[in-house]
Amino acid sequence: MTNGSTPILIDCDTGIDDALALLYACASPDADIRAVTCEAGNVTAADVARNTLAVLELAGRSDVDVAVGRTVPLLQPLVTTPETHGPQGIGDAVLPPPGRSVSSRHAADLIIEEAAAHPGELTLVTLGPMTDLALAVLREPRLPVLLRRLVVMGGAYGAAGNTTPVSEWNVAVDPDAMAVVLRAWSPDGPVDWTAGPPPRPLLLGLDVTEGARYLPTHQERLAHVAGCRADGSAIGRDGVDSPIVRFVHDALAFYFRFHERFDGFRGAFIHDPLALAAALDPGLVTTRAVTVDVELGGALSRGQTVADWRGHWGRPPNADVAVTADVATFLDRFIERVGGLAAERSGVAR
Ligand code: RIB
Ligand code: CA
Repeated sequence: MTNGSTPILIDCDTGIDDALALLYACASPDADIRAVTCEAGNVTAADVARNTLAVLELAGRSDVDVAVGRTVPLLQPLVTTPETHGPQGIGDAVLPPPGRSVSSRHAADLIIEEAAAHPGELTLVTLGPMTDLALAVLREPRLPVLLRRLVVMGGAYGAAGNTTPVSEWNVAVDPDAMAVVLRAWSPDGPVDWTAGPPPRPLLLGLDVTEGARYLPTHQERLAHVAGCRADGSAIGRDGVDSPIVRFVHDALAFYFRFHERFDGFRGAFIHDPLALAAALDPGLVTTRAVTVDVELGGALSRGQTVADWRGHWGRPPNADVAVTADVATFLDRFIERVGGLAAERSGVAR
């Protein structure tokens, strides 16, 4: 750990808001990014890997290792969502093909190896389906105590689903993986935690992430910080274009159209950046310890995350579910940090 920063592993299915989360992490002085792992979800695993490498290159972080894992969920067929994130997964944005390839390591192996090499130090933030994490913990059951903490963007704990009436996308794509992860982290799970149970994972569901609404006014503010127009173009003859602001603008243009059509507002839920921000600063959310499980058999409810808020099951809590989020502080931080990174990368003095 350097200068009080948080060593993190990021697992994603880059997609538009995953890309914004990666930019936020690269722009955050309190984020010590150790590696990024990818799996299929919003788009195919190959597209996720390409997008992830290209976004890290855009942010000047080609030093960060990127590994790919499963190309399909544990059991059910892969379903992607080009209608939400665009055919390539980054909306209307276009990025140069990345100048490097993914690691030769499988994502699950990378998670295990990094956690074992730095026991109790790394926070793993999952921003997509939990396929690779499930594989990793099946391969290494001690992973919950080898990691310092697990932070998950996933589930809906009172809110309606965004993929089925009761299921959130990251869980709906691979509910079996979520079940493996929840059981692995449970105090009454398959491992005898002699040194005490693992720290409960922090779960950020739609209940809080749909409060993180990025609007056109936020894009205007970000561009102002970056010293360019909202579309990334230069201001005046002496101004300079900002590739990062251009990327955010073009990626979100697609996402804004999607949310206008399906959620009735011009803007976007930026689920993943909020989860990443909460991993770096848990004070952004308030939580309740609760027992969570996932429905696997229901004809109507497969993929539903069920929170036992009133203790009917009599099982020990296995998760800290976020119930509120300080979205105003998060959005201010997002704008300041990503705008600052954009200014730095385009050589604009601040
Ligand atoms: O339900 C929101 C989640 O699904 C986000 O991680 C988004 O990127 C999609 O993967
Ligand atoms: Ca995602």
